[in-house]
Amino acid sequence: MLSHFQQALDKRKEEGILRILKPPKKGVDFYSNDYLGFARNRELQDLLLMKIIENPEILSGSTGSRLISGNSMIVTEIEAFIAKEHQYESALLFPSGYNANLALFSTLPSRHDTIIVDEFIHRSVHDACAMSHAKKIKFRHNDPESLENVLKRQKRNCYIAVESLYSMDGDGAPLDEICELAEKYSAYLIVDEAHAFGVFGKGLVNQNQLQNRVFATVITYGKALGMHGAAILSSELIKSYLINFASPFIYTTSSPDFHGISIKTGYDFLALNQKISMHLQNNIKIFRNQNLMSLSSGNSPVQAVLMPDNERLRKIQQTLFENGLISYAVYSPTVKKGTERLRICLHSFNTEEEITKLTDTIKEFI
Ligand SMILES: Cc1ncc(COP(=O)(O)O)c(C=O)c1O
Repeated sequence: MLSHFQQALDKRKEEGILRILKPPKKGVDFYSNDYLGFARNRELQDLLLMKIIENPEILSGSTGSRLISGNSMIVTEIEAFIAKEHQYESALLFPSGYNANLALFSTLPSRHDTIIVDEFIHRSVHDACAMSHAKKIKFRHNDPESLENVLKRQKRNCYIAVESLYSMDGDGAPLDEICELAEKYSAYLIVDEAHAFGVFGKGLVNQNQLQNRVFATVITYGKALGMHGAAILSSELIKSYLINFASPFIYTTSSPDFHGISIKTGYDFLALNQKISMHLQNNIKIFRNQNLMSLSSGNSPVQAVLMPDNERLRKIQQTLFENGLISYAVYSPTVKKGTERLRICLHSFNTEEEITKLTDTIKEFI
């Protein structure tokens, strides 16, 4: 009876793409999303510890959904703080970016609407579309012309989903052009800032002052902020709509107060430590100066180095690992055949020596 499960796993194993949970690797980190090193920052850990010592209750469970017993004034105030920081009317916290995207896209578009997604949009948006009754259409990655071709043909309300900095390719969306198209076709634009927040201040929507043109923005805290969770930034109206209709918000126990407090502490720490973002940009420059063929933007902490061929990719990742350098290989079919790549994440804490050791090792395979 269970043989089809086994067959699917065996097939993955044969193809060398079986997923298994492994203990954390030891070596120089070129693979985590901890771009600013906040998840390993002792000073930040001490600040968090102080909050707990001052008020240990913040660690306790919240006892219910936020609509029943699980709301707290601490979280309400932190949401007001986040909204103000990003110059949006409202913020609504979620336990993860996955949940935030699930809530947004499964709730706002109705069965009469269309969700138009960049072909490289994060899996959480696709899963949300599967939960929603709206029609989903893809447009070519970062291609405003392709987006306009889709928009032109729609008679229904449209939602557009893009990332400001893409997680696998490390390239930025042409946000200005996309805003113009959203305005021209009266579409609702939603921007996921998972990989941009913290790396580019409060994100690229904020940096480019697009708050009034972007209907909703998703900020996640598990990457550059080194914490966990996410916020949906939008209007009071949309916040109220989500509180009323978003299943991923309603039917779950809310997070302990410590969750909100860690995020607030992260914002404060980020504001006081802008030099850490400058270290990161300097390291990105060092990497880019090594002239490897990268698909990514010049200032992106995610650098995707094309290594077509799964076998060669496996070999290079193994060699890097034997040299104490941990990277992440993205094989087909996760990405299209011929676009297999090494996804290198640069951090503020990587040294010049580590970066050149990495690039010199990669060059041996090119
Ligand atoms: C673009 C993007 N959106 C959303 C998410 C989900 O965020 P989280 O890890 O907080 O669930 C990720 C994480 O991989 C992501 O890369």
